[in-house]
Amino acid sequence: MSVVLAFDQGTTSSRAIVFDHSGAILGVAQQEFTQHYPQPGWVEHDANEIWQSQLDVARRVLAQCDLSATDVASIGIANQRETTLLWDRATGEPIHHAIVWQDRRTAPYCDSLHAAGHTEIVQQKSGLLIDSYFCATKLHWLLENVPGARQRAERGELAFGTIDSWLFWKLTGGRVHATDVTNASRTMLLNIESCQWDDDLLSLFNVPRSVLPEVLPSSHLYGETDAELFGSPIKIGGAAGDQQSALFGQNCTRHGMAKNTFGTGCFMLMNIGDKPKVSTCKLLTTVACNVGGRREYALEGSVFIAGAVVQWLRDGLGIIDDSAEIESLAASVPDSDGVYMVPAFAGLGAPHWDSFARGTIVGITRGTKRAHLARAALEGIAYQVADVLDAMRQDSGIPIAELRVDGGASANDLLMQFQADILQVPVVRPKVIETTALGAAYLAGLAVGFWNDVSEIADVWQTDRVFQPSMPADEVARRRARWAEALQRSLAWEP
Ligand code: G3P
Repeated sequence: MSVVLAFDQGTTSSRAIVFDHSGAILGVAQQEFTQHYPQPGWVEHDANEIWQSQLDVARRVLAQCDLSATDVASIGIANQRETTLLWDRATGEPIHHAIVWQDRRTAPYCDSLHAAGHTEIVQQKSGLLIDSYFCATKLHWLLENVPGARQRAERGELAFGTIDSWLFWKLTGGRVHATDVTNASRTMLLNIESCQWDDDLLSLFNVPRSVLPEVLPSSHLYGETDAELFGSPIKIGGAAGDQQSALFGQNCTRHGMAKNTFGTGCFMLMNIGDKPKVSTCKLLTTVACNVGGRREYALEGSVFIAGAVVQWLRDGLGIIDDSAEIESLAASVPDSDGVYMVPAFAGLGAPHWDSFARGTIVGITRGTKRAHLARAALEGIAYQVADVLDAMRQDSGIPIAELRVDGGASANDLLMQFQADILQVPVVRPKVIETTALGAAYLAGLAVGFWNDVSEIADVWQTDRVFQPSMPADEVARRRARWAEALQRSLAWEP
């Protein structure tokens, strides 16, 4: 058996990627699927469409690489997290569209939970801040609002799952109803210490135990695919939420190692070792992985707008025609000439959590050119990442030796150099920036002996480029102080 097959089931597309033993990519197939917006602030997916697109890309990539099921040692799944689904155990049919992590329909319910004084206990038990982002309130909504759902759930007829669970179910023809522990840690129903479903949280959100999947390690033999799907059965050996998968794919397996994914927004995770630590800086505590019987935890902070600011320069302001142009435009000036851009288009995430903040550009003069705006936009991404990293340092008490990076905007050398300068730590970009899929591949491969242990995969991982900080410390301090002032001006703007 020569390869591992990774599924990267994301928010907008399903992808399948084949990796060989050296960690090299042999083939990629990708398919977008429909986003449903039934009301403002609501986002849904058709789970059958997710399944069909995932199956199609898996079959397609094997055909492209001229491989059959018998060449595949194991399948690993990395998936969009928190997206919540209920299906009928007898028919396998979803009872409603999946409610996507971005969906805000349960925000008023979350407000009422805060008002009723549940904030602290939920954070202590789950490691999470009460927010409609997570599964618990979405599942509550499904049970309350889909006709007959609660009664059917109580009779044991319904199954709940995040997308990993749904794919296990479909791949095994309904034989496996399980979830990996990293996905479970995003439900707000899991006790972060014991990694078991928590009775108090279940009762707070009124969720019957009968709907819950079994919680299993991230690298684990979950089962085998139905023979007819790929011609013969393939073992399913790994699963993790996509951000945790990227952390593992970046080989951040030791205490204090951190990665940042530069996508539409940013997701930063830092490995904090084998004990959870509740944040005092408004970060999330989450399970990083459970491999070989060892459970590790991470702190997580998200920045809502990162690459999206580049799209705005392109589509909103029209000052670039193509996203890739931003790097050369920003590099055409030596600095932003005192312009600071806070891209708080949709409020600010970690560590500020201000949903009323709005975007701000300060420091514009008659001499400001579009190149300065481009540069200020990129720098605004880096400053936000630095704010999250500071919160992580403070929460964990761990000094950070380097930041590993991935995601589309990590290809931007100017941004990566500025990021290293502002953080005053090296920024490390790996050769394979498909780290989300690579993490799932590692998890799957470790479960079946394709790779023997974590040290073997550490040898597989390779650096593309290290960006060393080169800006003098006093200049960094001056710029960060100005950024902090610009940020203050964007807070609590929306009445
Ligand atoms: O928490 C949401 C995250 O898992 C979504 O990731 O890459 O599908 O946007 P992505």
